[in-house]
Amino acid sequence: MNRQRRDILKMVVAAAGGAAITPMLMKNSYAAKEQEKIPEVPWTYKKVDPIAVAERAYPAYYKGGCSYGAYEGIIGELKAVAGYPYILIPTEMFIFGEGGVAGISSLCGALNAVAAAIFLVTGAVAHKQREEAFGMIRELFNWYEQEALPNYRPKNPRYEIKASVSKSPLCHASVTKWCKAAGFKSFSKERAERCGWLTASTAKYAVEILNKKADSAFIAAHPLSSQVQSCRSCHDKGGALENSRTMMDCGGCHFTGGKTKHL
Ligand code: HEC
Ligand code: HEC
Repeated sequence: MNRQRRDILKMVVAAAGGAAITPMLMKNSYAAKEQEKIPEVPWTYKKVDPIAVAERAYPAYYKGGCSYGAYEGIIGELKAVAGYPYILIPTEMFIFGEGGVAGISSLCGALNAVAAAIFLVTGAVAHKQREEAFGMIRELFNWYEQEALPNYRPKNPRYEIKASVSKSPLCHASVTKWCKAAGFKSFSKERAERCGWLTASTAKYAVEILNKKADSAFIAAHPLSSQVQSCRSCHDKGGALENSRTMMDCGGCHFTGGKTKHL
């Protein structure tokens, strides 16, 4: 056997005993990837089909919760349609947002994830562009507070689901208002299904916004209510009192029915 053939044989044997060399190879390929340039935000957005996003988000909800479902709906579709650099994102990181962050019921997980996705493809460090992305995120939040949701029915739903108005971006208020309107318990299968539809609805609306933005046709369709604007004119930035900070619907937490001192 000549020397060259012996060398080739050695390589084949080494490959067959793969387990021993795999960690070495993995380490090397990881090092190579670290050197790949990860583009700065905003990443180039490619228009995606809102229905495809919703249909991807709905089953993903049952796999990893509302936040993962919404993120996977959008980013998963971008992975399929645009590929790199979206393929670099482990969408599973958004499982943290489930049930208003780890079940705490603060910010709705679907909103949380979708705000991150919007920022990824439209935001930037520069203040002007940051504000533009925030404008889209605020439109999404106001839509969520004001519309009767969920408004997307998956093609193969488990149950039929009633819509309700949350008047709040908070998981707690959103879930509880729906339970009251629909007559189901907060840990029922129907409530889970409702959040699956809501995950799909939220991801869908986010890409509708992004698609409009891509066509330079984005206009915020859900401004703050005149009541919230009036409250903020005294209590928020630049107001006579400037003793609070929020763009959430004040009525979600403060009684604004006219029976307190001034509300
Ligand atoms: C014209 C200015 C003005 C507007 C508009 C206004 N507030 Fe006030 N608000 C005040 C002032 C002044 C106080 C302090 C009242 C006091 O201490 O007696 C106050 C107090 C409050 C308080 C403290 C507790 C209370 O109930 O008195 C809350 C909460 C509040 N406002 C919420 C709101 C909300 C919500 C709205 C909109 C529905 C609103 N405010 C609209 C001026 C305003
Ligand atoms: C998610 C619930 C929530 C929402 C939405 C909300 N607030 Fe509040 N707000 C609170 C809580 C909780 C406090 C603290 C109450 C306390 O200390 O008694 C508070 C306190 C305040 C205070 C101070 C009251 C004081 O005693 O001086 C003002 C003013 C106020 N909010 C105005 C607003 C306005 C205006 C909006 C809408 C733009 C709004 N809030 C929306 C929960 C909320």
